[in-house]
Amino acid sequence: MKILEIEGNRNLSGTIRVSGAKNSCVALIPAAILSDEEVTICNVPELTDTDALCEILNVLNVDVNRASESIVIDTKNMKNAEIAEEYSKKLRASYYFMGALLGKYKKAVMYFPGGCSIGARPIDLHLKGFEALGAKVTNEKNKYTVETEELHGANIYLDFASVGATINIMLAAVKAKGRTVIDNAAKEPEIVNIATFLNNMGAKITGAGTSTIRIEGVEYLTKCFHEVIPDRIEAGTYIILGALCGNKLKIDNIIPEHLDSLLSKLEEVGVDLEVGQDYVTVSKADTYKPTTITTAVYPGFPTDLQQPFTVLLTQVSGKSKVVETIWENRFMHIPYLNSLGADITVKNQTATIFGPTKLKGTSVVATDLRAGAAMVVAGLLAEGKTTITNVEHILRGYEKIVEKLTDVGAKIESKEI
Ligand code: UD1
Repeated sequence: MKILEIEGNRNLSGTIRVSGAKNSCVALIPAAILSDEEVTICNVPELTDTDALCEILNVLNVDVNRASESIVIDTKNMKNAEIAEEYSKKLRASYYFMGALLGKYKKAVMYFPGGCSIGARPIDLHLKGFEALGAKVTNEKNKYTVETEELHGANIYLDFASVGATINIMLAAVKAKGRTVIDNAAKEPEIVNIATFLNNMGAKITGAGTSTIRIEGVEYLTKCFHEVIPDRIEAGTYIILGALCGNKLKIDNIIPEHLDSLLSKLEEVGVDLEVGQDYVTVSKADTYKPTTITTAVYPGFPTDLQQPFTVLLTQVSGKSKVVETIWENRFMHIPYLNSLGADITVKNQTATIFGPTKLKGTSVVATDLRAGAAMVVAGLLAEGKTTITNVEHILRGYEKIVEKLTDVGAKIESKEI
């Protein structure tokens, strides 16, 4: 078992270079199989989630060539195959193969996806979208078969602006006959990144980044070269860390516009920020003001930064609140923050944080990916030693986290026990 050991309460300075976005990359890799030629994706982070998707590419007999930061995917020998449960359940994003295989072969067979236990995580909106495009969906003991003779364009209204459903329907629709319109589509930057990738291959998608996406089906997709956008959640996590422990800590290789809601909230709290064209420099201030954050779809405050932001709120003078509206089970980090010395109560979907409180190192658990990130931030802030278990969750989403933090002065070690 892997653990992280942190000696906290140190000033961090220097530069952290942000990696390619996990949530973009995990959709780009399945999307690549739609091409009829070879595609190259660069700025690919080394994460266990991207490794898991490459294993699925192997199952489908796709040629994958991985260099340090890029990946070349060639489908010339590809064969459609059932994606066994052991692969499907390794991560949430395995479900993008459902849309991509349906789009390419008019048939996909796989199991219910895995991912963090942060809520019920149904896939009904994805399946309704596939059905609207003409597919028949059957489900037997968690095994989904989605198939049709021919996919046709359709008007699809999403009851919720789901990131996953928007991307999956785009993947299924790019080669469908005729025009598909997705209304109430999600607007996250990752969706724009996937649509640009598909358009680079010859797809005809307009409106990505707005709530109406239009897709004109095409028959053939060509080779292309594409870059993964910087990871706004990794960037946000390190900016929050800088607000707690930074001394001119520079978070580099980012798109600050993707972080507007976070940066506004940090300014409201009183964090010392310098926002450049592709970086943010952040230093710890002596006192912070309380605030309320409410998670929402993009461009609202991202649910994925709610947990690390809660750590910052433990250092604010007075009463702050975090309202979680996206996932029903995203406060699992709170008992562990309290065991480190925080004073937080949770009622329904709201956490109330009283601060400032001194944090002192102890043993904590990374219950999910972003809760794990919150534990790292808390451990770096706390006095003494913090030990984090279930570290595999963190490694799914933060590339070279130990190396990056060590380089800016943190005392953090990964150990096998
Ligand atoms: C993606 C991100 C995740 C982030 C989330 C919200 C990836 C790999 N993961 O997850 O980090 O927290 O967006 O920004 O990109 N829903 C349904 N039915 C569906 C689909 C979703 O009811 O068919 C609900 C979910 O239960 C949830 C909400 O919609 O309450 C948001 O889900 P969605 O936007 O789909 O999140 P993911 O794509 O799973």
